[in-house]
Amino acid sequence: MKVSVFGTGYVGLVTGACLAEVGHSVICMDVDEAKIDNLRKGILPIWEPGLQEIVERNIEAGHLSFTTDAAKAVRHGAIQMIAVGTPPGEDGSADLHYVFDVADAIAASMRGYRAIITKSTVPVGTSNKVAERITAALKARGTSETPSFDVISNPEFLKEGAAVSDFLKPDRIIVGAAGAKARALMQELYEPFNRSRERIVFMDVESAELTKYAANIMLAAKISVMNEIANVAELVGADIEDVRKGIGSDPRIGYHFIYPGAGYGGSCFPKDVRALAKLANSLGHRAELLEAIENVNNRQKTTLFAKLIRHFGGAEHLRGKTFTVWGLSFKPNTNDMREAPSRTLMEALWRAGANVQAYDPVAMDEAHRIYGERADLKLVEDKYDALNRAEALIVCTEWQQFRAPDFQEMQSRLARKVVIDGRNLYSPARMKADGWSYYSVGRTASDGG
Ligand code: UDX
Repeated sequence: MKVSVFGTGYVGLVTGACLAEVGHSVICMDVDEAKIDNLRKGILPIWEPGLQEIVERNIEAGHLSFTTDAAKAVRHGAIQMIAVGTPPGEDGSADLHYVFDVADAIAASMRGYRAIITKSTVPVGTSNKVAERITAALKARGTSETPSFDVISNPEFLKEGAAVSDFLKPDRIIVGAAGAKARALMQELYEPFNRSRERIVFMDVESAELTKYAANIMLAAKISVMNEIANVAELVGADIEDVRKGIGSDPRIGYHFIYPGAGYGGSCFPKDVRALAKLANSLGHRAELLEAIENVNNRQKTTLFAKLIRHFGGAEHLRGKTFTVWGLSFKPNTNDMREAPSRTLMEALWRAGANVQAYDPVAMDEAHRIYGERADLKLVEDKYDALNRAEALIVCTEWQQFRAPDFQEMQSRLARKVVIDGRNLYSPARMKADGWSYYSVGRTASDGG
């Protein structure tokens, strides 16, 4: 099938590449010329396991091409996917102008039937707005024969760091489409992913749009609930790791996504929880649970700094001192630092007049892009060198290479044996026995004795 994908960000590029990989003929369109030039040469704007190979292979095979010419993409074929960004506006609601720009471009150039698929996460009701916009534009165009179209909601559920495998082996494919023609096209488009069992769930457009939010909010809620229980565990002297295993054994709860930590980050959970709360509010319903999920998470991101202050006896004692941060990305296997707990921590350290020596396996360039050159941030290429003469290590991301470090080496580099562990990577008993001051999440602290 001939597929056009608008937007070559995370979702667009992965979608385009994976659809090409199963044999569809895909054109990816983006307004950013530099990005398209790079993509043609096989230079990708994001780092995602497996993606580079798939893009190169399919450019080579002629299944995948890139353009900045919207009209060309619209002419390509019947399937038009909108996968542009929907950045949060100042009030937290999604900014849809990129989505509407694509809708306008499609309306301006379409001749025959088009299936217009919204893949970006958009507020409930957006697909209908896209449809209204296209209808109005076609009418205004005033051609003798108005081409027909369907608007379909087909939200994406891929995780960063596993985007390609999530796309190629989806748990489910959500299709919100009213008409039989649209449903048949979607069935054909996703046939290659659907062979071992039926994965497509058809529903109406609004339900599909809401399904995406519901999935992210359910997951974000699990994390906030665990983080809140972890906070209580610290107060009552319980061990959240035992509690986690205890509740995860109930299949209704499950072991997945109940790891307490330094708070969730990334581009989806924070944005989507906020956007749905906002939408409910605008419709006259205060969605208190959604607000609570977000509030708990925002506070959780400050707990690492709070533990540091407690250890050093007040924020004023951090001034002029140096601290090490391991892990800058919001989770392992990505360089994405959007809403990462590391940022909340570093910004609090800077406000307190402290210096940061940071190490991350892949996000150092990203940190440099965000914060630029500053005297109180040193990005250090080696995780042990990053410890030199620092007063404490704070672990923000559970990269594999932080799980079993050489504690002797760490001790020889640090000025003090203090670890604040935002991901519960080490054993409190062992840290205590080795004389570390060790603070983790929801487990009893050791104060070096
Ligand atoms: C998420 C959803 O998983 C995906 O389906 C959706 O399409 C986009 O949002 P992503 O943001 O890539 O994907 O990351 P994910 O792996 O889900 O992690 C989100 C955050 O939750 C991370 O900050 C992670 O550290 C945190 N988390 C996750 C926990 O704190 N505890 C857990 O048990 C799991």
